[in-house]
Amino acid sequence: MIGRLNHIAIAVPDLAKASELYRTVMGAKVSAPKEQPAHGVTVVFVELPNTKIELLHPLGEKSPIANFLARNADGGIHHVCYEVEDIYAARDKLKSQGARVLGDGEPKIGAHDKPVLFLHPKDFTGTLIELEQV
Ligand code: CO
Repeated sequence: MIGRLNHIAIAVPDLAKASELYRTVMGAKVSAPKEQPAHGVTVVFVELPNTKIELLHPLGEKSPIANFLARNADGGIHHVCYEVEDIYAARDKLKSQGARVLGDGEPKIGAHDKPVLFLHPKDFTGTLIELEQV
């Protein structure tokens, strides 16, 4: 059911520093920061030949990234995103097998203007999973 790895998201305490690290030390193509108020994050996209890395930094008062950074002061892998062809079909299949979908269970428009859902990390070996319809 799941397809390609769309991206790995890394929460970072200092977005400018992390961007510079990926640009100069790692030699990657790095975007300008993009604020996404609906998701409470500022994102920098790192383009790799086979996938993307998203550097996430909290934006606003109720950012979902803030707690994560409080527990992981140096930053860390926050979630992985897999592509699916039909997000409703994927959701219903996963739910029928006992997986928990976060929030109200309805897809939201994600960082790439496509519908996304998040799955409970406790149901997936401790990893927060994002599904994105492509
Ligand atoms: Co993501």
